[in-house]
Amino acid sequence: MHDVVHPESDLFRRTENCLIKILSSFGYKEIRLPILEKTELFKRAVGEFTDIVEKEMYSFTDRSDHELSLRPEGTAGCVRAALQHGLIRPGRAVRLWYAGPFFRRERPQKGRYRQFHQLAGEAYGLSGASIEAELILSNALAWQALGCSSELSLNINTLGSVAERAHYRHQLIDYLTAHQSALDDNARLRLHHNPLRILDSKNEQVRAVLDAAPKLMDCLGSESRTHFDQLQKLLDHAGIHFAVDAHMVRGLDYYTQTVFEWVRAGHAGQLTVCAGGRYDHLVQQLGAPAAVPAVGFAIGLERLLALLEPQPMNHRHNQQDAAVYVVTGSPRAAEFVWQFIADVRRALPDHTVLVHCGGGSLSAQLKHAHKSQASLALIIGDDEVDERIVGLKFLRTDQRQEKVPIQDLPQRLQTLLA
Ligand code: HAM
Repeated sequence: MHDVVHPESDLFRRTENCLIKILSSFGYKEIRLPILEKTELFKRAVGEFTDIVEKEMYSFTDRSDHELSLRPEGTAGCVRAALQHGLIRPGRAVRLWYAGPFFRRERPQKGRYRQFHQLAGEAYGLSGASIEAELILSNALAWQALGCSSELSLNINTLGSVAERAHYRHQLIDYLTAHQSALDDNARLRLHHNPLRILDSKNEQVRAVLDAAPKLMDCLGSESRTHFDQLQKLLDHAGIHFAVDAHMVRGLDYYTQTVFEWVRAGHAGQLTVCAGGRYDHLVQQLGAPAAVPAVGFAIGLERLLALLEPQPMNHRHNQQDAAVYVVTGSPRAAEFVWQFIADVRRALPDHTVLVHCGGGSLSAQLKHAHKSQASLALIIGDDEVDERIVGLKFLRTDQRQEKVPIQDLPQRLQTLLA
C-alpha cells in the first residue's frame, strides 16, 4: 500500500477527471460505494474458488461478529447497492461509474499493489452487443484523450452462456483428467474447482497440453456466436482494432459471454490496464427477482498512470505551480495583504496564488517567487501600504513594474492572466 504524492497525485486527479468527463458524456452517473462489504457478498459474486476470494482478501470479524472484507473489486458492491436503492428495474437502462481504492493481498511488484485504484463503469438492463462496443469505445476515446492509445491493445473473448460454459467445463475436466500427469500442482488444484482458470496457465508443459484441449468456441450455440460476431462487427465499424484471445478467462467467476482486456502492448509478461465483460446472472444471484443483463469494466489507475508518466506533456502542466506570488516587506505589509487578497482569489479561481509565508527579506522572498514559476509578483512595502497600492512586477518578461491601486488589482490581474 503506498502513498500518492505530488506530482503523481496531480496526474492522478487530472487522469480521473478526464476519464469521468468521457464517461459522463456517455450518460454514466456516479455511485459512491463503501470500502467494506460482507465477505459473503464477494464469495457469492466473485466466486469461492477464485484466487481473489481464496487468497487475496483482507477479511476480519468485527465486534458484532460480522464477517467483513475490504473490497477486492467493485462490481459486487455496485450490484448490491443498485439493488438496494431500486436503481435496477426491468426494462430500464442504468449506467453507473465509481472510483476509489481496492484491496488485494497479492505479492507486491511493479503494477501490482495491495491497495490500488480503479475507475469503473457498469451498465444494467442492456443485453445487446452494442453496449459492449460502447463501453469499449469509451475506453478507446479515453486512451486517445490521454495520449496513450499506441501503448494499449484490445483482446476480446466469449465465455458463452452459463449452460454452454457448464457443458464445456465437463469436456475440459474429462480431457485434463486424462492428461493429469502433465499438469503442474496449480493446475491439478484447479482441476475440479475452477478448471477454466487453467486455460491461462503460463507453464509451458501445461500450455502444450492445452493446445489440443477442447475449445470453448466449439461449444457455443448460435445465439452466443451471433452476439460475439455482432460485437466484432461494431468494433470494426468504429475502427477499433482487437484480437480474439480464446484463452482469456478472467479471474472472476461472474462473467458470461463477452470478456475483454486492454493490455500494455509488447510488454514482457503483459500487464492488463483495463478489463471487463458481461455478467448477466450476477444481479439475480444477488437478489433480483429475474435476470438483468449487466456489463462493465474497470481501469487500474496505477497501471494507466505508469503509461502516462514518461510523457513530457504531463510534466509541463505540473510546472505551472503559481500564477501570482505575493511578497511583503514588513509585518504591517503582510497584514495589509488581507485587505485585497480575498478579492484577488475570487477574481482568479483558476489560478494558483501564493502568499509568501515565513518572513525573510524582500529579495529572498522574490527568489521564492521566481522559483515558484509565477509570472507575476505583487510587492508590498510600507510605502505601498500608505498609498493603498501594490507593486506589480513581471517575473518572466521585461515589462516595467506597475503601481496598481488595490481596488483595481483583481481586474488588472484578470486581464494580464487571461
Ligand atoms: P479485474 O480484472 O480484477 O476486474 O481488475 C480490473 C483492473 O484493476 C485490472 O485490469 C488492473 O488494471 C487493476 N488491478 C487489479 N488488481 C490490481 C493490483 N493488485 N494492483 C494494481 N492494479 C490492479 C475487476 O475488478 C472487475 N470488477 C471489472 C469489471 C467491472 N467487470 C465488470 N465490471
